[in-house]
Amino acid sequence: MTRIVLFLAVLTVFYSGVSGAAPANPDDPERQVLLLPPEARSAVLREMRIFLQSVAGVLHGARIGDLEQAAEQAKRSGMGARAMLPQGLMGRLPQAFRTLGMDTHRRFDQLAMDAAQMGDPDLALEQLDRLMDNCVACHAMYRIDPEPAGG
Ligand code: HEC
Repeated sequence: MTRIVLFLAVLTVFYSGVSGAAPANPDDPERQVLLLPPEARSAVLREMRIFLQSVAGVLHGARIGDLEQAAEQAKRSGMGARAMLPQGLMGRLPQAFRTLGMDTHRRFDQLAMDAAQMGDPDLALEQLDRLMDNCVACHAMYRIDPEPAGG
């Protein structure tokens, strides 16, 4: 019994350890499953909801011609937003995930800067349009499941 528990523990650590990655879920074979502790998963999903708020905020700002507002809303998803993620989380995420995530934060910062300086709604929309390729690409590749308790 102890051996089985130990084996399962080792297996869990193996799958969730270095990269935080596990094999594809049979119900959802296209996407790679990332296993994260519940708090880390919540933190990532919270960051995602802020991404969505930024997208909505930039669209709204651009539509009503308030580029200050668009800039402010984009800034919320800039590199500064990463400070809210738990320590050590980055090391558990696959390289491709991190690269896409960082690029998305950087693009929001660029959008914020350009919107504030140039006040051009078309440019903001073009930048948002390109940036959202990252949302689509990453969502097509990954999902995040809570790590089983005790893992
Ligand atoms: C680096 C990868 C990555 C990028 C880039 C990314 N996402 Fe996500 N997002 C995910 C993953 C993984 C999930 C969890 C999906 C699942 O488990 O089914 C998620 C979930 C979400 C959710 C659901 C949050 C919740 O509370 O359940 C929203 C909303 C979301 N993303 C919006 C966005 C938007 C908008 C963008 C682009 C501006 C974006 N994401 C960019 C990986 C990413």
